[in-house]
Amino acid sequence: MCGIVGYVGHRRAVGVVIDGLERLEYRGYDSAGIAVGHVADGAPARIEIVKRAGKLEVLKIALEGRMLEGTIGLGHTRWATHGEPSDINAHPHLSEDGQLAVIHNGIIENYGELKERLSAAGHVFLSETDTEVMVHLIEEHYRGDLAAAVREALAQVTGSYALAVARADHEVIVVARATSPMVIGLGEGENFVASDVPALLAYTRRVIFLHDGDMALVGSDGVTLTDLHGAPLARDISEIDWDAESAEKDGYPHYMLKEIFEQPAVVYNTLGGRLVGETDVNLDLALDPHSIDRAIVTAAGTAFYAGLVGEYLIEKLARLPVEVEIASEFRYRDPVVDERTLCIVVSQSGETIDSLEALREARGRGARSLAILNVKGSSISREVDDILYLQAGPEIGVASSKAYLGMLVAFELLALWLGRARGTLGDDGAREIVRALRSVPRLIEDTLTHRPCIAEVAETFKDKDHYLFLGRGINFPTALEGALKLKEISYIHAEAYAAGEMKHGPIALIDDDMPVVAVATQGELYLKTLSNLREVRARNGILIALAHPGDDMVGAHADVVIPVPETHELVSPLVNVVALQLLAYETANRLGLDVDRPRNLAKSVTVE
Ligand code: AGP
Repeated sequence: MCGIVGYVGHRRAVGVVIDGLERLEYRGYDSAGIAVGHVADGAPARIEIVKRAGKLEVLKIALEGRMLEGTIGLGHTRWATHGEPSDINAHPHLSEDGQLAVIHNGIIENYGELKERLSAAGHVFLSETDTEVMVHLIEEHYRGDLAAAVREALAQVTGSYALAVARADHEVIVVARATSPMVIGLGEGENFVASDVPALLAYTRRVIFLHDGDMALVGSDGVTLTDLHGAPLARDISEIDWDAESAEKDGYPHYMLKEIFEQPAVVYNTLGGRLVGETDVNLDLALDPHSIDRAIVTAAGTAFYAGLVGEYLIEKLARLPVEVEIASEFRYRDPVVDERTLCIVVSQSGETIDSLEALREARGRGARSLAILNVKGSSISREVDDILYLQAGPEIGVASSKAYLGMLVAFELLALWLGRARGTLGDDGAREIVRALRSVPRLIEDTLTHRPCIAEVAETFKDKDHYLFLGRGINFPTALEGALKLKEISYIHAEAYAAGEMKHGPIALIDDDMPVVAVATQGELYLKTLSNLREVRARNGILIALAHPGDDMVGAHADVVIPVPETHELVSPLVNVVALQLLAYETANRLGLDVDRPRNLAKSVTVE
């Protein structure tokens, strides 16, 4: 997720664009850049570009003393997806003749084949980004009509984009949208484009939200909307009554809730371009899957629970032995590791010191390493042999939600890739998983519609002092993650157990004052789980069950059923956990607690 801003009007563009980027830093902050059209009297029009790796502050320092007088400009704050954060990979990207500038938020999925064709045709690429192919495609088709050139370029592209293009000799910005958000701000003798409303509110509250497939020519004296074929379009003008801070949350009361609702897009983007046909996966890894005999997954907190799901997936699909280790334990226990061990380190931030040191411990003993990471350019990213990036965008809420989903998708892809490469996963089995993965965004949307029912559960039990979470098999980690979510934002004590383990002690805890949340979706161990539900009922426990819609057997035992849509059991954690994230959120919110910044917690634990 990146932040883009454009301006055309009577003001110096650089001030408006930097203002806007400051309001969009929550969308990405590993590098930033600005392009300003410069039309000096008598001299040929040209575009000036300044871009830097690092936070926006670094760009602002680089701009000091630069006289950028132009009144048309583009700006970009990046969340790297392709190519490390660097000056050259930062946006805007400029054409070879310095006349055309492009900024982009999204993923050009077929950029590899486009880059190959354009390079063979003589185009010289400077960056590692997918976005740069847009510059060369537009150049290739430009015959004086910028909008037509952008249309012809986009006709060759698959993927997601919020795109803004400017040429030195044009007084308009051409924009286009597919999947990634884009909004046009309407002013007096000036107009604006941005990824999101916060960038515009200082100048206008009249906006047009572009739809997928929309394009627009944005000039100082007007905006012309078309489709991707150039046919005129009409869109409503909205009046924004949010303040800037609530606008950064897209109108959600908390970042965490916004990020829970972003999860369908996170799954779609993390899968994006990595599924090949109906049965295969392309992860672009250097790892030789035949060079390893076992894997050790090491992480902390939520990332550790993602690793537990990964263990089930990799052992089931690839028949590769996996151990999952708490990073702060692994690094001190003199582990048995050799060069045929794959160390998989999982981290949203890529900065968790325990996970980084556990990685170093494993590598020091000869292990190959692979990171499942969200933040490009993070410390862990610089010390591994391979990286599988989530496409979750910045996660602002301290309690992880969308990053966890991204990690689960990454493990699904890794297990598929290993299984296919090691010959332990046939076409039929792979096809079932791939089909289920492609349906997950829709199934999460479905689960999110049950928020009112989950909110009622939260309201009923928000004053309880203790919760017990139960799960079996691949959904035991789901129970663990649900308990952690509740603990860390509502401060209610919650424990999670493998349901089969309950009779070995925890059952003594159950009474008529303890809510027991059971993940009771159907799978191989469904009947066993049902007997666990009966054990809870027999002791007057308060039973809240996640179950497939219409499951009367669970319904007969539970006080409350939270419906979750059915899917392949090996994919079910990606759907089930969403209900538990909402339960934790609604509980904490009803207790009036600071959901985004829970007490005692930090987003990334970078000190021991
Ligand atoms: C999750 O909600 C917590 N914020 C915490 O457990 C977190 O998952 C853990 O600190 C690991 O962080 P990382 O993924 O950035 O390494």
